Amino acid sequence: MTAAAVPLLEVRGLVKRFGALRALDGVDLDVAAGTLTGLIGPNGAGKTTAFACIAGAERPTAGSIRFRAAEIAGMPASRVTRAGIGRTYQIVQTFADMTVLEATTTGALLHHPRLNEAVARAEEVLEFVGLADKRQRLGRALTIADKKRLEVARALATEPDLLLLDEVMAGLTPAECGAAVELLRRTLARGITILMVEHVMEVLMPIADHIVVIAAGKTLFRGSAAEAVRDAAVVEAYLGAPPAGDGAEAGR
Ligand SMILES: Nc1ncnc2c1ncn2[C@@H]1O[C@H](COP(=O)(O)OP(=O)(O)O)[C@@H](O)[C@H]1O
Ligand SMILES: [Mg+2]
Repeated sequence: MTAAAVPLLEVRGLVKRFGALRALDGVDLDVAAGTLTGLIGPNGAGKTTAFACIAGAERPTAGSIRFRAAEIAGMPASRVTRAGIGRTYQIVQTFADMTVLEATTTGALLHHPRLNEAVARAEEVLEFVGLADKRQRLGRALTIADKKRLEVARALATEPDLLLLDEVMAGLTPAECGAAVELLRRTLARGITILMVEHVMEVLMPIADHIVVIAAGKTLFRGSAAEAVRDAAVVEAYLGAPPAGDGAEAGR
């Protein structure tokens, strides 16, 4: 296989058991470099668990996770982050008593151990995500949208090649979602690859190059967003409604 044909991230047969529960029961997914892939599925499907395994927060029971063709399954989170995978959390970390700048600096310290250099890097990231004017605000004083933005800032400050975003648009207004999509587009334009869990299909449809659907811990579908909304199994498992009767384009 040529280098270009190898996906940036390649997950095969991923299994994660919590006691008797098989949270993941054979997840396969590929993420091509430079693309945005949407990971969708019903509540409890295993999306966050898949992220935790990829990011090294949970040790997979079985399966393979290759990043740039190197096996990373079971590697500790600190090494995975250093290898170039950044992650946001579905339950946003509050950073209640930290300022926006301090919280972002915690990410930047990974590659810039000198504090002044880490702070300078964090300032650049805050400019990029649009939080520069709130740099001295405490985490607890932020709106939901800004807390999510801070999560993205902290992850970007670790200088990832692959960014895992877990429901960064949940709870946002349509206008805030629009601003978040704009940030994602600029992130992609910087050459950062994105794998994101998102429930709002209208948000995902126009920006996702590829969709992976998981249900009950298994990969159910891989393809384009347009194919996903037409796939009967996907519709039944996730979208919860038959395809719109007024034409296949209705989901756009
Ligand atoms: N740390 C854990 N211990 C036990 N069960 C867990 C743990 N994390 C997740 N689960 C279970 O694994 C399943 C998948 O959860 P999750 O990955 O959070 O789903 P999703 O993000 O798709 O909603 C659920 O049944 C959940 O209760
Ligand atoms: Mg989840």
